[in-house]
Amino acid sequence: MGSLLFLLLCFTEWASAATVYFAVNLTWATHTVTGVDREIILTNGQYPGPELRLNQGDDVYFDVYNGCPFNVTVHFHGIEQIGTPWSDGVSGMSQTPIDSYSDFRYHWKADQYGAYFYHAHHRGQLEDGLYGPIYITPSSTVTKPFSLITSDNDEVQAMINAEENTSPLLLSDWRLLTSEQIWDAEEASGVDAFCANALLINGKGSVTCFSQDEINALTTPAQKGTLGNETLTDIA
Ligand SMILES: *[C@@H]1O[C@H](CO)[C@@H](O)[C@H](O)[C@H]1NC(C)=O
Ligand SMILES: *[C@@H]1O[C@H](CO)[C@@H](O)[C@H](O)[C@H]1NC(C)=O
Ligand SMILES: *[C@@H]1O[C@H](CO)[C@@H](O)[C@H](O)[C@H]1NC(C)=O
Repeated sequence: MGSLLFLLLCFTEWASAATVYFAVNLTWATHTVTGVDREIILTNGQYPGPELRLNQGDDVYFDVYNGCPFNVTVHFHGIEQIGTPWSDGVSGMSQTPIDSYSDFRYHWKADQYGAYFYHAHHRGQLEDGLYGPIYITPSSTVTKPFSLITSDNDEVQAMINAEENTSPLLLSDWRLLTSEQIWDAEEASGVDAFCANALLINGKGSVTCFSQDEINALTTPAQKGTLGNETLTDIA
């Protein structure tokens, strides 16, 4: 009996795992984010990139066509890449970058489950919009922790349903300057840029522009001390 159950569980796990092909076409285009136009990296014409939805155990082929006028790589944040280090996407370490107008195939196994994201991993391109959510549904053999929260069967079932129907919620900061413009400004000034223009939820948000008087009022005494007789200014 025990071994029959084990076989059935294995079968269930095997049956839900599949080979998944996911292709992204990266382009460098003018796009409106926070109501303001700037050049960003679009993934299949959109920002943020489309969701990669998987089942635990899936074999994933992630094809990148780099239509941008610069090199890129893609990293799969939190994915362990056991046995597939060449698919980790770290430019200069696990791969040479993907040249403009050429492609590259990442191949890895979704051994884990849960929420992750893919993102650019070459220079500062993460800030140019190349990222999208990954969700890996746990295998049916994974024990749910929901009974630790409640002993009510209806509530447990509601949590199981909610877990099966999750939608990605991607939080990010956003700048109106491109990553290379920020890099140039940092080199010219010798100061790291910490400021962002907006906080985004699934790529949506707004920019608040403070007047110089409001900025002055918000400047802390410690900041004033390091500024001499200068004032903080709006970043863009
Ligand atoms: C990528 O997108 C660009 C712009 O829409 C299009 O011209 C090109 O054919 C696409 N390439 C691939 C490989 O899908
Ligand atoms: C882009 O990547 C290719 C292939 O890895 C490399 O030969 C080339 O030097 C890179 N170009 C730049 C501008 O870094
Ligand atoms: C700030 O301005 C005052 C008045 O013009 C001057 O006396 C002082 O030296 C300045 N401080 C710095 C750090 O430049």
